[in-house]
Amino acid sequence: MKFFNYSTVLLAFLCSVAVSAQEPVQVTVTEDTDAPVISKHIYGHFSEHLGRCIYGGLYVGEESMVPNTAGVRNDIIEALKELKIPNLRWPGGCFADTYHWKDGVGPKDERPTMVNRWWGGVTEDNSFGTHDFLNLCETLNAEPYLAANVGSSTVKEFTEYVEYVLHQGGSPMAEWRKENGREEPWDVKYWGVGNEMWGCGGNMTAEHYADVYRQYATFMTDWTNSDGLFRIASGANVDDYHWTEVLMRDVPKHLIEGVALHSYSFVEWNEKGSSIDYSEEQYFSTMKTALKMDTLVTKHSAIMDKYDPNNTIALVVDEWGGWYDVMEGTNPGFLYQQNTMRDAMIAGTSLNIFNNHARRVKMANLAQTVNVLQAVVLTEDEKMLLTPTYHVLKMYNVHQDAKLLPVNFDSPTYNFEGEELPAISISASKTDAGEVNVSMVNIDAHKSHTVEINLGDMDVKDFSGTILSSEDLQDHNTFDQPEKITPKELKKVKYRKGVLEVVLPPFSVLVVTGK
Ligand code: AHR
Repeated sequence: MKFFNYSTVLLAFLCSVAVSAQEPVQVTVTEDTDAPVISKHIYGHFSEHLGRCIYGGLYVGEESMVPNTAGVRNDIIEALKELKIPNLRWPGGCFADTYHWKDGVGPKDERPTMVNRWWGGVTEDNSFGTHDFLNLCETLNAEPYLAANVGSSTVKEFTEYVEYVLHQGGSPMAEWRKENGREEPWDVKYWGVGNEMWGCGGNMTAEHYADVYRQYATFMTDWTNSDGLFRIASGANVDDYHWTEVLMRDVPKHLIEGVALHSYSFVEWNEKGSSIDYSEEQYFSTMKTALKMDTLVTKHSAIMDKYDPNNTIALVVDEWGGWYDVMEGTNPGFLYQQNTMRDAMIAGTSLNIFNNHARRVKMANLAQTVNVLQAVVLTEDEKMLLTPTYHVLKMYNVHQDAKLLPVNFDSPTYNFEGEELPAISISASKTDAGEVNVSMVNIDAHKSHTVEINLGDMDVKDFSGTILSSEDLQDHNTFDQPEKITPKELKKVKYRKGVLEVVLPPFSVLVVTGK
């Protein structure tokens, strides 16, 4: 039962007056022939041998009672296909620089075991290896992104890996691949040359890694003389601009196609807090780090512009997402966390940032697909659920390979204890078929905002929309209530004389489509 007193009623009334009295936010969306296309690869994913991401998550093995295709859960395959995941990065993360690919090919019962020294010290049987991963990518119609070992490998081991995967036939590695059951090479364009080389990849300096990178990249070939490889250098940790500067300065352009960047969102690195039971103060701090992505991308891009004015090298944000304490009672090395409306806010704002920086950001990978960090899918035995983050990515996939429409507006602020953040984030694009999509996020925990979007003379009139919102910020889907948070059709989309009007409730994500 709820009890009211007059002062609460009065306060509620005053708040509602304050909300409705706010001026609508004026947004202009324009068409610019020079605007970039939003690469579909910005909507990429990342699956590491970490906790229950691969083993006991994606991969349950051929003998499992859970319906599977070559050991990979069918329900996850379906969910990822629906999501239209454009690429998948594997096998790490930190794991990548401990992974020796030859241990993961050939008959499964003859593969050696290994100990996952970064993540929980568990013993793995190498039953999910390169064939399993690349075949899965084919099933998903997603491009593989192989993050290959540099830190504890050799140029020989590395280049033999490229040969094994890409050589047509007649080379030792290609023949071995054929013996192992795969006649044709796979189509793998994206190769990571190590991971976090400033840390778990070898604790290298930028200067040393630039040299190592040059050496490894020199011997990488797609074996067709068509320079078809997309080599991605291990990039900066958050705001280590020196790292990007050195790579851009010291690596010749013909040896590099992408430079990575890793940045996670959290309350405080040493005190991350619960993924479900958090205060508004913790929410505000998380959003502060999430929104910092805009500064990071702007500044790393500016350095890249200096050395690469023609924009031939991509900024690849191949690890991003929210990072909290593990769920109570779970292995601290497994990074298993729940996923609430806070994560939907991180996803929506980060993707808007990447879209708006599409000229330089050509790929991004959410960490991580299943049961780890900001996952899109969680599993428990035979059960599976889709997280709020999944729904945001699905709502946003309309932007994949669409032309960016520049957006201009002044955001109202979300204020908390004397600090402020921009409450609203927006990006927009136009598909080849002429469909206009505008994605919007309001991170304010309390206030609604009305936005009026001026589309000028764009030839669209039929509008529909989807909204993801919930009653409480901490709301999340559980295995008992897997559909507590799902996108709903937007009831009210007003459109008059080129101006679209929508209301963004507190902590909501909306995508409006005009045809
Ligand atoms: O995604 C978890 C870890 O975070 C990755 O293994 C590593 O690259 C990063 O530090």
